[in-house]
Amino acid sequence: MSGINYSEKIPNNVNLSEDRTLQRALEQWQPNFINWWDDMGPEGSKDMDVYLRTAVSVDPQGWAQFGHVKMRDYRWGVFLNPGDQERKIHFGDHIGEKVWQDVPGEHRANLRRIIVTQGDTEPASVEQQRHLGLTAPSMYDLRNLFQINVEEGRHLWAMVYLLHKYFGKDGREEADALLQRNSGNEDNPRILQAFNEKTPDWLSFFMFTYFTDRDGKFQLCALAESAFDPLARTTKFMLTEEAHHMFVGESGVSRTIQRTVDVMNQLKTDDVAKLRAAGVIDLPTIQRYINFHFSVTIDLFGADQSSNAATFYSSGLKGRYEEGKRADDHVLKGNTYKILAVEEGKLIEKEVPMLNALNEVLRDDYITDSKGGIDRWNRVIDKAGISFKLTAPNKAFHRNIGSLSGSKITPDGRVVTSEEWMAKVGEWLPTNEDRAYVGSLMGRVVEPGKFANWIAPPVMGINRQAADFDYVRFS
Ligand SMILES: [Fe+2]
Ligand SMILES: [Fe+2]
Repeated sequence: MSGINYSEKIPNNVNLSEDRTLQRALEQWQPNFINWWDDMGPEGSKDMDVYLRTAVSVDPQGWAQFGHVKMRDYRWGVFLNPGDQERKIHFGDHIGEKVWQDVPGEHRANLRRIIVTQGDTEPASVEQQRHLGLTAPSMYDLRNLFQINVEEGRHLWAMVYLLHKYFGKDGREEADALLQRNSGNEDNPRILQAFNEKTPDWLSFFMFTYFTDRDGKFQLCALAESAFDPLARTTKFMLTEEAHHMFVGESGVSRTIQRTVDVMNQLKTDDVAKLRAAGVIDLPTIQRYINFHFSVTIDLFGADQSSNAATFYSSGLKGRYEEGKRADDHVLKGNTYKILAVEEGKLIEKEVPMLNALNEVLRDDYITDSKGGIDRWNRVIDKAGISFKLTAPNKAFHRNIGSLSGSKITPDGRVVTSEEWMAKVGEWLPTNEDRAYVGSLMGRVVEPGKFANWIAPPVMGINRQAADFDYVRFS
């Protein structure tokens, strides 16, 4: 079951050849995917040979194989973690029953919606990142960008497989629509707002892969608990790939900070103008980028009170992060949870039924996890002997979804008037000037072992390759 068959047109470990109808349907979708990749995928990558990892099994030890591959010939496939015959539903109203191998009629619409929403984010991020290859700060970074892009393409395949296999005609239509919506397209945008934003520069890319791919991790973890077993198994394998995406983000920001603090020490200054003249990204700008990506990403978890979230949980479609490790009854009928609200000009905590607050529960777990990286970035600053601390903004800052969306709240959690917000927002979120400055640093550096001036080299190469390894061969 865990071996992947690469002799087939669509590599898979789901015995695709035994289901001719499904195989034919997916083989018809495949050229549309390739057309989409050619039109919307990484610009100018067509003839590059890239040192990529390809999944060769779903065994946690040694699942990937590394080698130079033409991007367009990457073998996107369908890989599910092995099933467990004994697996039982472990939360919600169906607790203790056997997990579902098929979609129960009454949950069909909701499950389809969950799968489509997840599936939509995968090609969206490829579209958002399609120009970045032109300004890569190194060959190493170019390779990492492409690795993420091909794997997001594979995540799309993972969701399309579920739609085709389990949702009949409307599933096929949804699979087609996943290639028709486009990030930032006014007439036919991607479903979630963060996936319609631009990823205009590499600092944004690293922030995106640190913060927004981490949203992906938490959504996938919640879906990996699902009573719909094929969804649980497919998301579990996607999580294996996702770890690298977040690593690229965390180490990318970390290397950016490293270079900045090195120059701060060389020039003995924290003067923003001097640091910009020296071509590095000042720490206050990095803080504003954090504020932006953090706040836009936590909106992705949805409204703080949601009857859909309660339904998804109680019916077993979507669990909590690490559901199995929690000590409560996993039904949550009488439980409460604290959410934020604004009352009389102040941010307050309000107790609400937990079932309705499950978006908030997942958001809070996400926040705890994402703060870990910020702590590690601070260690780079500390080590350089510089007193500056990066922080996550307050959860209520710059929110556009849920009960906080109508209020103006500062990164340290003060409710302010629109006037104060307008006067100070340039201290809290990247300004046009910040973005133009960061944009001005972006220039292509692709000689093996060379790095753009604004970023430090990585501590180690991919798959332990040497510092001057040719990750990308241009032809
Ligand atoms: Fe993904
Ligand atoms: Fe990802």
